[in-house]
Amino acid sequence: MPGLLDKRLVIVTGKGGVGKSTVSLALARAAARRGMRTILCEVSAQEHLSQVFHRAQVGYHEVELDEDLWAISIDPDESMREYVLLQLKVRAMRDLLFRLPVFTYLAAATPGLKELVTIGKIWELTLDDRKVKGGERYDLVVVDAPASGHGAGFLQTPRTFANVARVGPMRQQAETLDAFIRDRRRTGVAVVALPEEMPVNETAALERELADRVGVEVTRIFCNGLYPERFAESELELVGSVAEREARPEAVGAGAEREARLVRAACRAALSESGRATDQRHQLARLEESCAAPVTRLPYLFAPELGAEEIDVLADRVA
Ligand SMILES: Nc1ncnc2c1ncn2[C@@H]1O[C@H](COP(=O)(O)OP(=O)(O)OP(=O)(O)O)[C@@H](O)[C@H]1O
Ligand SMILES: [Mg+2]
Repeated sequence: MPGLLDKRLVIVTGKGGVGKSTVSLALARAAARRGMRTILCEVSAQEHLSQVFHRAQVGYHEVELDEDLWAISIDPDESMREYVLLQLKVRAMRDLLFRLPVFTYLAAATPGLKELVTIGKIWELTLDDRKVKGGERYDLVVVDAPASGHGAGFLQTPRTFANVARVGPMRQQAETLDAFIRDRRRTGVAVVALPEEMPVNETAALERELADRVGVEVTRIFCNGLYPERFAESELELVGSVAEREARPEAVGAGAEREARLVRAACRAALSESGRATDQRHQLARLEESCAAPVTRLPYLFAPELGAEEIDVLADRVA
């Protein structure tokens, strides 16, 4: 079965804060390590990429972060400008249009227009023959999509536009973009989820909504931030009985209260982390049951902040 990295475009979505940017970067990194010329697109203004690679801010231009790994931060205003430039060949017309306030009004008054031109730019990045001057072909485009706060929202934009714009080039282009998003052969959709009750429910709902409203099938779900299962059942029993013993004054003995407190604290920490890991496995099972797409597990990484090394650990897993 062809995987995510066999596509030409991978859109990574999910609720806010679940690890979309982290997983997007890990996917892009995994592809780049295979020698695929890869570009990672940030859609909303984020600083994440620049931080991980200690680079100057990634802007609207395509910048090389590492071997075969490129990045771009798609700014809707810039995309709109580029779109108009590509559409209107007559220079004087373009200049006029940009100077007219009507252009700004149009963008502000047309809900979804910015999302549409953003998707248009993503499409442009996937072309064999790039439209922008000097643009080179990419083997894979990974999109760190905006948080799916409004369900299928972002991906639904082209379809909404195609329905609203009855005729004309706008409709035609919206239809092209809609077909492009729904092209299962070329486009993959990854949803990032956390092993917690609400996020699991939301992920299942998002998968259904993407299917019903956009006609998109989720290719893969990433269950992010799984705690390790450190203790066997017998070890947990031992920890439990030690904690109990250390709580009894007659067992501790005079002068050893301090040590007993420390041991109790360590036991409590072990039991609590183990409880959390168990809850997570339960939610992971719910996720696998309630979603149609296959689920890939990603570990919680205990690091002060995720740098290139941690991203590589995740890249191994997503690959
Ligand atoms: N597997 C992991 N282990 C440890 N920390 C993680 C892991 N995945 C993500 N994080 C951390 O969790 C935080 C949120 O991750 P990230 O920024 O990737 O989420 P996001 O879904 O892109 O958020 P937003 O919706 O705000 O864009 C970050 O600090 C990130 O370093
Ligand atoms: Mg993000």
